[in-house]
Amino acid sequence: MKTRVFPDATALARGAADEFADRARLAVGARGLCHVALSGGSTPKAMFQMLASDGRGGVPWDRIFLWWGDERCVPPDHPDSNYGMTRRTLIDPLQLKNERRIVGEDDPDDAARAYERVLVAAMGTPPVFDLVFLGMGPDGHTASLFPGSPALAETRRFCVANRVDSPLTHGAATRITLTYPVFEAARAVRFLVAGADKADALARVQSGADLPAARVRGNVEWLVDAAAAAKLEATS
Ligand code: 6PG
Repeated sequence: MKTRVFPDATALARGAADEFADRARLAVGARGLCHVALSGGSTPKAMFQMLASDGRGGVPWDRIFLWWGDERCVPPDHPDSNYGMTRRTLIDPLQLKNERRIVGEDDPDDAARAYERVLVAAMGTPPVFDLVFLGMGPDGHTASLFPGSPALAETRRFCVANRVDSPLTHGAATRITLTYPVFEAARAVRFLVAGADKADALARVQSGADLPAARVRGNVEWLVDAAAAAKLEATS
């Protein structure tokens, strides 16, 4: 498990924003374009605010295309919308134009199929992202791949409507999520994990427990704050 530990949540947001900028410059240098998948949650929000306050200089924003790793079934102006949060914190402040959201207010199966089509049209089969940001919940979920949910077993589809039932979603709910085949095909996956409530789950990932976040394979690195890292075993 490749892990970078930052002293606190602000340092983590800075490190994540720098990682975003570095990987974007690398992808644009190599291929002229950078496709990035973003996640919801409080940790990316701090990264978006950091990127917005850095301004447009230094990051090739005109060559970056923003996508989402998962979405709640709500319209963009709903407080739970992952797109809405990104819009307020990053897209509007920097006046970004290249983005494609998951349409959370449509029928979830239709919205997932439509998103899959545009992903394939933009990045091939499987879609190959330059960079995917993921978070992890205290139960070990990532994107909207919750423990015990059907999408964990998905091997063919790249975006699905997932029926989940968790205290974190306040009971039964439908979420739209990208799937393991997409995360595994990505050139880089970066988990952003902050807070003491994640310490147990992170230690379980390190010890090889079968949690949804632990199943993501490929070029994966974990950017975490000291509180989340508190129960990790030291590795050489
Ligand atoms: C979502 C997510 C989800 C999130 C984790 C961690 O829409 O809720 O994409 O998987 O990344 O729940 O969220 P925090 O960063 O807020 O802890």
